[in-house]
Amino acid sequence: MTTTDRNNLTQDSKSIRSNKFKVLSTPNLSLGKRRGKEEIEVVQFGDLPQELHRLGEGKHYLIRTFGCQMNEHDSEVMAGILENMGYTATEQEEDADVILFNTCAIRENAEDKVFGHLGRMKTLKRERPHLIVGVAGCMSQEESVVNTIMQKYQHIDLILGTHNIHRLPYLLQEALYSKEMVVEVWSKEGDIVENLPKVRQDGLKAWVNIMYGCDKFCTYCIVPYTRGKERSRHPEDVIAEVRELARLGYQEVTLLGQNVNAYGKDFSHIQYGFGDLMDEIRKIGIPRVRFTTSYPSDFDQHLIDVLAKKGNLMEHIHLPVQSGSNAMLKLMARKYTRETYLDLVHRIKEAIPDVSLTTDIIVGFPGETDEMFEETLSLVKEVEYDSAFTFIYSPREGTPAAKMQDDISEEVKKERLQHLLDVQNEISRRKNEALRDQVLEVLVEGESKTNPDVLAGRTRTNKLVHFKGDTSSIGQFVYVRITDPLTWTLNGEQVFTE
Ligand code: 5AD
Ligand code: SF4
Repeated sequence: MTTTDRNNLTQDSKSIRSNKFKVLSTPNLSLGKRRGKEEIEVVQFGDLPQELHRLGEGKHYLIRTFGCQMNEHDSEVMAGILENMGYTATEQEEDADVILFNTCAIRENAEDKVFGHLGRMKTLKRERPHLIVGVAGCMSQEESVVNTIMQKYQHIDLILGTHNIHRLPYLLQEALYSKEMVVEVWSKEGDIVENLPKVRQDGLKAWVNIMYGCDKFCTYCIVPYTRGKERSRHPEDVIAEVRELARLGYQEVTLLGQNVNAYGKDFSHIQYGFGDLMDEIRKIGIPRVRFTTSYPSDFDQHLIDVLAKKGNLMEHIHLPVQSGSNAMLKLMARKYTRETYLDLVHRIKEAIPDVSLTTDIIVGFPGETDEMFEETLSLVKEVEYDSAFTFIYSPREGTPAAKMQDDISEEVKKERLQHLLDVQNEISRRKNEALRDQVLEVLVEGESKTNPDVLAGRTRTNKLVHFKGDTSSIGQFVYVRITDPLTWTLNGEQVFTE
């Protein structure tokens, strides 16, 4: 099969036409859940036919992104595809000919936000009837969302999912000419598509996908359904991309995967894991390398040993724990215990004493008692995270936890969240205080978003630093003495060496 054939191929040949919809394929979460044994092929994104290359000439696009870094990066791919078609970017909705919403399904409030925007689009479409509004990302993979859009948001022109982003040119063309709502969402992951065009957000820091999907099936989480089974990009493709970014002058890459520690587990032809990949990337001349997200029980000693070599491997590990209670971890189907997690943290700290650890925690999961919550607090105090993302549990339709009795009142959930935040903030403040008077290497990212009189940059441990400096240092490494450490940021003064 040629690349063009593949790019043209729809996963489900079923095609429903009516005067309102052109449904090429719709999502099904139970299909998305299935894990087949079929081999994942690697295919190349082919050249677009001439007519698609020019479809966007003189037109503008706008992509609104919700959710995680994976989505941020998918939006860079969509931007790359649209620019390949001749579209140029705009920040103004009133100037846009195409608006895409790249959505997140992880919690209900993320979804509510998107529906708010979709509702707003009705007025804009009335004023600009030629405008194409599309919905992409994880929400598109949920049948309930697609049904709602088809029933209540009929002004939407296009729905595509997470597995068929490379089909955007064809679907956009269809939406432009057919005047029906075009729906194409593949429930199952397809091949790994290489060579996708990308418009990166800045010339300094870049995301690099190393794997797609997740096979962990934590009971609260929708991601394994919306993103499909784990499949790793070949090491040579990842390494070539990082080398190219280094050649282009990028200062930092962040390797992305839902569980980077499962990298390579799906390879049948080679024995090669995330530690091996990091050991090779360590030798590439790119100044800073980060990665996210880690899964504790897949985080092996080999990786710790490689990270301890430091160099361009940054001493920051995001290690979601979710809960400090073994009973909760079991109900969440997290495949580790409080004890094995703490042992991992201990080994990491021993090998990398100045490591910064951050985490994700869910409060109010069904069945969480005060005692179980206290165990989370005590774990947080023991690990001493630099910072934590904390969430109130949000039931996701189709996941096992959604069937568990949600027996904790909203009030208790909010109290626990606040209590956890108070404990964590005190630790963050104390850890930052320990950096007072230290001189740290900072990659200068730009002017501060809140105060244009100061510059903002990040330490190796990913802490945000503000300091007075010359804009000519943006994109460069400088040294900053920390003079005023705060809870979430560090203020300092630039230090000039001879
Ligand atoms: N409710 C609340 N938080 C969730 N997360 C994932 N699913 C849910 C849910 N249903 C959190 C986890 C995960 C982070 C990305 O989002 O903490 O690590
Ligand atoms: Fe969701 Fe768990 Fe996979 Fe993370 S590891 S994406 S929380 S299922």
